[in-house]
Amino acid sequence: VTRESPLPSAVLGAGGYIGQHFVRLLADHPLFGPPRLVAGPKSAGKTLADVWQLEEPPPAELAETRLVRLSPAGLARSGVRVAFGAIPSGTAGPLETECRRRGLAVFSNAADHRMDRDVPLLVPEANGVVLERLRARGSDRGLLVTNPNCTTAGLVLALKPVWELLGPKTVHVASYQALSGAGFPGVPSLSIADNVVPFIREEEEKVEREARRILRPDPGSGAADLVTPFVVHCARVSVREGHLEAVTVEAGARPRQQALADAWRSFDPLADRYLPTAPHPPISLRAEEDRPQPLRDRWAGSPTRARGMAVTIGRVRWTPPYLRFFALVHNAVRGGAGGSVLNAELAESYGLLDGARREVGS
Ligand SMILES: NC(=O)c1ccc[n+]([C@@H]2O[C@H](COP(=O)([O-])OP(=O)(O)OC[C@H]3O[C@@H](n4cnc5c(N)ncnc54)[C@H](OP(=O)(O)O)[C@@H]3O)[C@@H](O)[C@H]2O)c1
Repeated sequence: VTRESPLPSAVLGAGGYIGQHFVRLLADHPLFGPPRLVAGPKSAGKTLADVWQLEEPPPAELAETRLVRLSPAGLARSGVRVAFGAIPSGTAGPLETECRRRGLAVFSNAADHRMDRDVPLLVPEANGVVLERLRARGSDRGLLVTNPNCTTAGLVLALKPVWELLGPKTVHVASYQALSGAGFPGVPSLSIADNVVPFIREEEEKVEREARRILRPDPGSGAADLVTPFVVHCARVSVREGHLEAVTVEAGARPRQQALADAWRSFDPLADRYLPTAPHPPISLRAEEDRPQPLRDRWAGSPTRARGMAVTIGRVRWTPPYLRFFALVHNAVRGGAGGSVLNAELAESYGLLDGARREVGS
């Protein structure tokens, strides 16, 4: 097995909304082999085409593949080395722990392990250095890495380039979150058509604690989480995909507006690594008076493999001490499956999947 041979992979929860985005991204991935499709109770035995719900058709080479039920032991026995998790929180936690125990590298979307001190909560451009620390510690066979909830992923990416310049005292966020954030089949139509629902269970709490963890200073050092208050409101709106966030930063410093724009535009900390799903640049800064919009900006990001991975920022107003802007994130791509795939690519680039690779060769 050469360094270039793709690692055998699986998608846990392949029949769900995030699971299908994983399948789309992994079908022809250069580092990870076409995934085994692992189902929950409802979609087991069906083909991928039977359960497919995304706008674009399922990858042709996997469309007729049947989803199967597989335990962590079964996954390990069947040679899978990298598992991408798209299972509801609660069910996911113990399953992911068991996969790691059996030597798999797990990249999870679920909330269960995000705040565990020994599990990275990762957005590569914001705190990728935590994986360097993990490598320095020398990892055992298994690995578990999480990505934050979808709203947090967009928020931290928008804030990271300007964080040091602003020295925030408080961050206020109000989100307008898409229906697909609730997975399949999602919010009942009669509750949301012609409506906005100002409540998403646990979401505000997640954004507050996860953002503070990811944006802590010197994340590779094991430093404590930020104490900066995040004041968050989350609402569900009748949009299919793409979470819009209105952000207000109360700043402790007074940078020039041009310095903020330069910081966003020049931000590309992953430019030197081979990470196929990384967007370059990761931030798209728009000058129009009416952007970003979910319908027009959710697929921002290039190259093609990184569509939906860039965060779009617009309506920037700097009236010290308040910086105000809107940010838009594709909840299922940067905020979900794409974020996890990028985490796995970063882990591979740090050599954290070498153990898994050796086992494939043995
Ligand atoms: N939606 C988003 O924008 C978003 C963003 C970030 C993170 N997340 C997180 O991603 C995870 C998946 O969310 P989702 O929106 O994709 O939900 P979803 O559409 O409801 O899909 C969940 C899938 O998990 C499967 N499943 C349940 N138990 C299983 C088991 N024991 N083994 C294997 N598969 C199992 C279900 O399979 P069956 O249908 O076959 O029963 C279902 O297809 C959740 O943890 C969620 O919090 C979601």
